[in-house]
Amino acid sequence: CKKASDIICSVVRDNKNALLGLATGGTAEGVYKYIVEEFKNGKIDLSNVKTINLDEYVGIGGDHPQSYRRYMDDHFFNHVNINKENTYVPITTGDIDRELLNIKEIIDGNGGTDIQLLGVGRNGHIAFNEPGERLNASASIVDLNEDTIRANSRYFSNIDEVPKKALSLGIGDILKSKKIILLAFGSEKANAIRELLSNDFITTKVPCTLLKAHNDVTIIIDEALSEKL
Ligand code: PGA
Repeated sequence: CKKASDIICSVVRDNKNALLGLATGGTAEGVYKYIVEEFKNGKIDLSNVKTINLDEYVGIGGDHPQSYRRYMDDHFFNHVNINKENTYVPITTGDIDRELLNIKEIIDGNGGTDIQLLGVGRNGHIAFNEPGERLNASASIVDLNEDTIRANSRYFSNIDEVPKKALSLGIGDILKSKKIILLAFGSEKANAIRELLSNDFITTKVPCTLLKAHNDVTIIIDEALSEKL
């Protein structure tokens, strides 16, 4: 997490107007903790950066405790000098077509994000692009698969409360980023990371393998995953 924070902070130091592609999930929490620490130590100025998040559950408003807007405010935005007006987390309770256009404008307006932080699902999903015959290039409404719903149910009081759909950036949106960091912690991510690192195939059945088409990806894993590999 410290390493990922260092990479993100160096992108911001090089370009104070950087557009940061951000992720939620348990893994990313530690990254934000370290960026906040850098800020509190006076080592990073986020006043001009812009951010865009990868995804949001459909039908959950920004004030819902499990919304990704809330997550970002709680773990990151409320603790640094970022201008909240420059932070974008998809809004899924209103005009979805308008949101999809907003995302396109933000990403294409900057020529892709300057850096994209990614976690990865046990099934290899990146953002909410779940394994399948086909994947979306651009942002769209997607169905969450059962493994993801089960994994994310730890944040809800029961599994039935987990939304079944999400608005997610597409694979093309992610690959447009100038620089990508993917973090994977825990032995349960081993199958996904093995497919990413141990052969030369790209398959929509393991979406993170699409990252092989990008020329600047840093993959950070922990010891538990490394041992399993
Ligand atoms: P996690 O989620 O960091 O909570 O494991 C990652 C993901 O599903 O992309």
